[in-house]
Amino acid sequence: MCGIVAYLGDKDAFPVLIKGLKRLEYRGYDSAGIALIEEGDINLYKCKGKVSDLEDHIGGKSVRGTVGIGHTRWATHGEPNDINAHPHTSESGNLAIIHNGIIENYASLKEELTQRGHTFKSDTDTEVLIHLIEDIQEREGVKLGEAVRIALNGVIGAYAIVVIDKDRPKRLIAAKKSSPLVIGIGEDDFYLASDATPIIEYTKNVVYLNDEEIAILDLDKGLKLVNIANQEKTPYIQELELKLEALEKGGYEHFMLKEIHEQPRSIADCLRGRINSLQGRVQLGGIKDYEDKIAKANRVIMVACGTSWHAGLVGEYLFEDLARVPVEVEYASEFRYRNPIITENDVVIAISQSGETADTLAAIKMAKERGATIIGICNVVGSTISRETHGGSYTHAGPEIGVASTKAFTAQVTVLTLMALSIAKKKGVIEESRFRRLLIELENIPSKVEEVLKINSQVEFIADIYKDANNALYLGRGLNFPVALEGALKLKEISYIHAEGYPAAEMKHGPIALIDEAMPVFVIATKDASYEKIVSNIQEVKARKGKIIAIVTEGDETVKGIADHTIEIPETDDSLVPLLATIPFQLLSYHIAVMRGCNVDQPRNLAKSVTVE
Ligand code: G6P
Repeated sequence: MCGIVAYLGDKDAFPVLIKGLKRLEYRGYDSAGIALIEEGDINLYKCKGKVSDLEDHIGGKSVRGTVGIGHTRWATHGEPNDINAHPHTSESGNLAIIHNGIIENYASLKEELTQRGHTFKSDTDTEVLIHLIEDIQEREGVKLGEAVRIALNGVIGAYAIVVIDKDRPKRLIAAKKSSPLVIGIGEDDFYLASDATPIIEYTKNVVYLNDEEIAILDLDKGLKLVNIANQEKTPYIQELELKLEALEKGGYEHFMLKEIHEQPRSIADCLRGRINSLQGRVQLGGIKDYEDKIAKANRVIMVACGTSWHAGLVGEYLFEDLARVPVEVEYASEFRYRNPIITENDVVIAISQSGETADTLAAIKMAKERGATIIGICNVVGSTISRETHGGSYTHAGPEIGVASTKAFTAQVTVLTLMALSIAKKKGVIEESRFRRLLIELENIPSKVEEVLKINSQVEFIADIYKDANNALYLGRGLNFPVALEGALKLKEISYIHAEGYPAAEMKHGPIALIDEAMPVFVIATKDASYEKIVSNIQEVKARKGKIIAIVTEGDETVKGIADHTIEIPETDDSLVPLLATIPFQLLSYHIAVMRGCNVDQPRNLAKSVTVE
């Protein structure tokens, strides 16, 4: 993971870098650092902890310079400490580098360099790379850009890097492979970052670097692109659509709370222009050319990680039930290493909020090589996965900054519902009346989500009762089983309470042994086809003195009579319940985490965008 940011121009670089790093902290927050060129010297400031710790560390020291690089780290090689924090410098101290990614062959490179007299201060792979670059520069007598190119030809792994040279304060060299890098083109300056969020307030014109491209940025000569094979490339300048307000908390205490409350709008944005219940129409422009392929697919394989994988599980139910297409849902990290059997008749759907998750990316590259059609469901426009796929649909949820995913999940489920409906219609396997009813219900979902959000204070009350629990169980059946998994994941991620999601009927095969009076059991018990069965599961928990907190359909009296607490959600079609039932669990985790004093937006050890395998 890690976030990188750089500036080259005539402005004071420090505020640009610090603000940029704060925007990128979702990518990791183990350590932070910056390097600035000032009067022919590289001034380096770095320390363990967050960007705010770096600001404290710098205190009142002079941080002048109009060229600089900054980094916020999610540790891979070497523990998170001051020394391993980026930027790292070369043997002579003339060059400094920031890096997001992993250099897999760093050990052999380090060995060679050590034999040639290099000494290293840190345990990182990144320091090895900057030593290698300088070594090549000196041995081959080449310019920095060429030395970077030669070095990258000898590197195995992933990188987004920016290199500065204290003797060339008007130049930056940047390169990328498998980790993202965006270049903002200002009027007389350049901004570089892992994503567009640190750039947006300065310029809307950006170039997304492609894999194995090297950018040479020069204040006098402008931007030059080459690839690592030394072929010149033409930069493709795109205009950003991102809005600055979307990156701010807008009066909420945390991004997560803001993002939970944005869901009526984010789901509406996701539906906008794609359905029309009056005309009985669903239309996803980005998959139009592939719908036939999906409809006739041997099987659809959904690959994803984390919360996106849970959305895939909901998608499996929807695709199989509505569109009668066989689906398998795979953890991207398992799928790619299993040597799976993939044919040209398979369709792989990659689901990813960031569009950068390394395992998901690797899984689709492998499936593509084996001839499958690849469809993406991504949130971040222009992300690597969205560019690697044949077709796809954006979720249009807007930037999600809280590390724990909320609005991206409901938007993913919304897109999957639209896809399932569209394929169902194309195949003619859905009754027109059900199809129309589902379209109407979908159009009503944003206002029903609005209704669900009104239970916030009731959820806060329940959170207060269970905030000190050590364990929690989440149960659901059918489409709501993934909702249970997602509820448990949210609690684990941000409040550090051990939680497990289980199919309710499986409880009796193991987890039931855990139930006692101290165990809160969160159950989705809405009025659907398995309602009676889930009521029995609730009775089984109560018989063992467990505490039941049930999400029920508005007006339900049966569960209310048995459960310790009930949370009512509006009635909707069975297929759409996950879009509503997931929200009380998001709020519950949020409130419990706040009450336990946890860092809600930046939970320990996690990062939002996982670009390591
Ligand atoms: C990380 C995040 C999760 C996310 C997962 C997959 O673990 O903390 O919130 O669900 O990555 O990310 P993606 O961007 O591919 O959806």
